[in-house]
Amino acid sequence: MIEFKDVTYTYFANTPFEKLALNIPSLELSMGEYYGVLGPTGSGKSTFLKVLTHLLPINTGSITINETFDDIRKYFGFVFQQPEHQLFCETVREEFEFSLNNFGVDKALWMDKTANALKLVGLSEDFLDKDPLVLSGGQKRRVAIASILAYEPRVLVLDEPTAGVDGLSKEILLDAFRSYHKQGHCIFLVSHDLNIINNECSKAMSFKDGMLLNIGDPFETIVSADVTLTPGLALLKDIKASYPQISTQVSANNFQEIGKSYASK
Ligand SMILES: Nc1ncnc2c1ncn2[C@@H]1O[C@H](COP(=O)(O)OP(=O)(O)OP(=O)(O)O)[C@@H](O)[C@H]1O
Ligand SMILES: [Mg+2]
Repeated sequence: MIEFKDVTYTYFANTPFEKLALNIPSLELSMGEYYGVLGPTGSGKSTFLKVLTHLLPINTGSITINETFDDIRKYFGFVFQQPEHQLFCETVREEFEFSLNNFGVDKALWMDKTANALKLVGLSEDFLDKDPLVLSGGQKRRVAIASILAYEPRVLVLDEPTAGVDGLSKEILLDAFRSYHKQGHCIFLVSHDLNIINNECSKAMSFKDGMLLNIGDPFETIVSADVTLTPGLALLKDIKASYPQISTQVSANNFQEIGKSYASK
């Protein structure tokens, strides 16, 4: 469990520009969840991720990690927005080696860890000898994310990981995160794509003005958040008001099922 107590973060503290960007009096996060993080622009989502992972030092309060771990470097894996901009090696293999070395992974494990991570993001080992520059945008994104999955962080933190990639890469990445969660890892995923949070995450947290508005069931959290719902979510919200037992997945299959079961009512 990770516990927040009286946590605040202020940009440019003690200057005329100071801005309180995060204010969390109390929060308990359990390490088996796949959390979706949502809220309007400027509500504090990215700041929350940076505070959670200790990239930004908090101004007040405490954040306690209540489990044992062998190496803090490998505890959090942070995938920044557009992580492909951080690829700089001449081959995909060197990208993996840089990351595994940087995060202190035993060299004897590098080949296995690289192979597992490539498999998770649907790329063959033929990619290892390629120059990242020749890859498509979606493949670059998958390589960048795989180089973090390779060192197997306990907590994977993703800021808009599927924004601006092609549909196939998006589906592959969502599959990869789902598998990574099933393997027992914790995930935090920030997204403006509410369908993703609704369909993929086990819990959701919504922010507004730097405060945590709600945390809990993804659908309930999304429909009560300060955001514009997708047409699918808006429709499910309306149907659920009369038929509370419906499944809340936004998918063609689910809408067909709902249509069939209630056609006769
Ligand atoms: N480096 C910075 N310096 C000063 N203020 C900042 C900085 N980064 C963010 N802020 C401010 O802190 C608040 C929270 O920003 P944050 O980036 O966490 O929001 P967000 O929810 O991630 O937004 P978005 O959806 O646009 O990514 C906003 O008011 C923002 O203007
Ligand atoms: Mg952000």
